[in-house]
Parts: sequence; structure tokens; C-alpha cells
Amino acid sequence: MSERGTKVVVVGGTSGIGLAVAEKAVAAGLQVVVASRTEQRVKRALNTLGAGTEGYTVDVMKEESIRDFFAQVGKFHHLVVTAGETPMGGFVTTSVEAAKAVFDSKFWGQYMSAKIAAPSIAEGGSITFFSGSFSRRPASGAAALAATNAAVEGLTRALAVELSPLRVNCIAPGLVVTPMYDGMDKTSRDEMFAQVGASLPAKRVGQPEDIAETALYLMKSRFTTGTVVQIDGGALLA
Ligand SMILES: NC(=O)c1ccc[n+]([C@@H]2O[C@H](COP(=O)([O-])OP(=O)(O)OC[C@H]3O[C@@H](n4cnc5c(N)ncnc54)[C@H](OP(=O)(O)O)[C@@H]3O)[C@@H](O)[C@H]2O)c1
Repeated sequence: MSERGTKVVVVGGTSGIGLAVAEKAVAAGLQVVVASRTEQRVKRALNTLGAGTEGYTVDVMKEESIRDFFAQVGKFHHLVVTAGETPMGGFVTTSVEAAKAVFDSKFWGQYMSAKIAAPSIAEGGSITFFSGSFSRRPASGAAALAATNAAVEGLTRALAVELSPLRVNCIAPGLVVTPMYDGMDKTSRDEMFAQVGASLPAKRVGQPEDIAETALYLMKSRFTTGTVVQIDGGALLA
């Protein structure tokens, strides 16, 4: 997939997995647009990605913001949405409001992005959503997130049917080292990565590049649609 002029939009492309997708797409010679809420993060990503990449601010929890963003982007080929915030907490102790916020960010953010973007996606294009391995193998404290991930996977299959021939797929990562965990203190974070890594058949946790490779594959593979690709180092078997 090195066709010049192929334009990829990565919503959430300023950090972690999204930034790695953007980097791989740039390396493949594609035109790349990244977006997220924070201007500073957008600027930092553009510095990393180099000249020719576009960057915008957008908040996927706000429909108007998404509309403004895609109006600026115009026609493009592949949409990847990695944006979303997913705090965890005990089922009984977490407020319903906090649980709904996970859905608002990660499910409705992807739903609205796809709905608003779909008419601008060119023939042969694709959408790639993000769920996570908790949809199938949840940890304690992940009820809202597990349900959100499962909803994103259901949305993937529904849109693969309804938006056909536009292809719609989903990536379900396991534990991947990204700035998502920057809020933890370093010692606990390193311990968590080491412990989880040792428990997995792959004997390590994921890196953003591990996941980005699959995002590029899903853009390219014209016969792949309605599928959820689980990339978790074997977490379902551990
Ligand atoms: N890392 C893991 O272990 C892991 C495991 C399973 C699933 N996943 C899933 O993989 C995806 C990417 O995760 P990641 O680890 O790469 O996270 P990350 O490093 O925290 O990046 C998240 C990105 O989304 C943007 N974002 C967050 N809320 C947004 C909003 N409302 N509107 C627009 N942009 C928003 C952030 O930028 P701003 O702050 O500037 O908005 C950032 O660019 C997520 O769906 C996550 O749930 C990750």
C-alpha cells in the first residue's frame, strides 16, 4: 500500500498506538492526518511525523467538534480511531455516571467519528476501530470497559454489513506500553508490565508498533472486513 495520495486519518494519532500507526503510514508513503484534543500533543506529533503530515484538534465526545474536523479534512481513504479514555473501577463502587463516561468516550466517540466520516471515505477505503482484550477476558474492575469494548466489536460487524463495500474492522489489543499508563507511578507500572509480560505466551507485553502493523494490514487487505483482530501476546490462553 504505497500508493501516493492515499490519505489516512488517525483520530488519537498523537500518542501511543495511534502515533505508531501514523508513523508506519508515513513510512509507507501515505498522506497522514492526526488529531486529538490537545494542541500541544498535536504539535508534538507533527514534529515527530515530519513535513507533509496534517494535524488538528478534535474532541470525539463532541459531535460538533467531529463535524468541524472532518469538514477540514475532506475526502480521504482510511479512518483509524484510537481515541478514548478508559478509567477502571470496582463495579459496585463506581458511579453510573463514571461508567457511562467510558462509553461516551470510547464507544460513542468511535461511533460518531465513523458516522460523520463515512460519507467522506473514498472507494476502497476502510475504518479501523479499537476495542481491547477485556471484551473477552476482563480483569476485575473493568466492567464498563469490557462492555464498551464488546459494543465496539458489535458495531464493527454491523457497519461492515451496512456500509459495505467500505470495509470495517477492529483491533483488540492486550497490554501495550503507551502513555495511557503515565498516570501510574513508575515502579507499579514497571512491575505491572513485567508481571503481565511474564504471564503471557509471548513472554512480553506489547509495543505500539506491534499493533500499528496490523492497522496497516487492515487498510491494505481488500478481503478483510467485519473482523476483530486480537493482538495480545496470547492473553486469551494465559
Ligand atoms: N495501551 C493498552 O494497553 C491498550 C489495551 C487495550 C486497548 N487499548 C485501546 O487502544 C486505543 C489506543 O490506546 P493508547 O494506549 O494508544 O492510548 P493513549 O496513548 O492514551 O492515546 C490515546 C489518544 O487518544 C486521544 N484522545 C483521548 N480522548 C480523546 C477525545 N475525547 N477526543 C479526541 N482524542 C482523544 C489522546 O490525545 P488527547 O489527550 O490530546 O486527546 C491520545 O492521542 C484505545 O482505544 C485503548 O482503549 C489500549
